[in-house]
Amino acid sequence: MSFSSSDIEHLLTTSDPTAVDDLFAEACRVRDAVYGRLVFMRGLIEITSHCRNNCLYCGLRRDVQCRRYRLSEEQILDCCSIGHRLGFRTFVLQGGEDAWFTDERVCHIVGAIRSRFPDCAITLSLGERGRESFARLKEAGADRYLLRHETADPDHYALLHPAEMSFAHRMQCLRDLRDLGYQVGAGFMVGSPGQSIATLMKDIEFIDTFRPEMVGIGPFIPAAGTPFEHRPAGSVELTLRLLAIIRIIHPHVLLPATSALGTLHPQGRERAIAAGANVVMPNLSPQDTRALYSIYNNKLATGSEAAESAADIRARMAAIGMQVPTARGDYQ
Ligand code: 5AD
Ligand code: SF4
Repeated sequence: MSFSSSDIEHLLTTSDPTAVDDLFAEACRVRDAVYGRLVFMRGLIEITSHCRNNCLYCGLRRDVQCRRYRLSEEQILDCCSIGHRLGFRTFVLQGGEDAWFTDERVCHIVGAIRSRFPDCAITLSLGERGRESFARLKEAGADRYLLRHETADPDHYALLHPAEMSFAHRMQCLRDLRDLGYQVGAGFMVGSPGQSIATLMKDIEFIDTFRPEMVGIGPFIPAAGTPFEHRPAGSVELTLRLLAIIRIIHPHVLLPATSALGTLHPQGRERAIAAGANVVMPNLSPQDTRALYSIYNNKLATGSEAAESAADIRARMAAIGMQVPTARGDYQ
């Protein structure tokens, strides 16, 4: 099935429930034809809440006064060991842009994970870095990199970020990652201030042309202490429609049911799977640092322990007829 831009606009705005149900059903058919009834699990490890950036929407922006932490290599490896025992075969090391995590330090950590857990994929999500840096991390053993483009409209990008951040550089990073052989994740928030159907059309067009292996899409949720703290949250419904559209235009994409969806709606992640998503990312971060990684308000912290998050996710997926394999879940 291929969509024209007016089809997409219609699907994003229609109030016809049958059209939306058909969209979700088609997205599930497309996903099942490529990946079957499988949902891949990634273990999220939030390695640092320090960030030099000041993205206007983010609760970890540098101007927010909050307690910050970094995990040691030992703590990170402990999270991986626990995760490995629970059946995780992908670890996602995520953090703000923290200068403490030099190439040398990150390469050491990646190398240690690579040698201790050779059957696992290593995903990094550490913001913008230089091409040389991406190359060194790849060399050390990283397989994938998540860097949301946030919006494919340069004016909208400028509204969400301070002047020192640039849309052009974000795009350059994504191209560099692709050239270096990473499986690349892009993505955006739904309902961020200044977003419109026109900017969303550009996001869809960007995904259709760049064809990232992963696309992270979650609703915007206001974060305390940020310039957007009083803005309304994004729509769960619109997020689900975008997931389905992206699944259909890019059948092989790995599409997470994000925690932001789970935060706004108790069944948000299940609904995302029913709209074509096929990845979940339970948190493996240590118990005491979880609450400190507050990108947005009321961030989901299901279960106080990794085992609980994993069991919770497995039960939720089983309840909707999806299996969670012990597998890396690479892009196919
Ligand atoms: N609401 C939802 N998502 C957010 N992110 C950052 N701040 C928020 C927020 N307030 C997303 C951004 C970023 C990712 C790590 O989290 O898209 O890329
Ligand atoms: Fe830093 Fe990422 Fe938050 Fe921007 S979105 S302030 S880069 S942690």
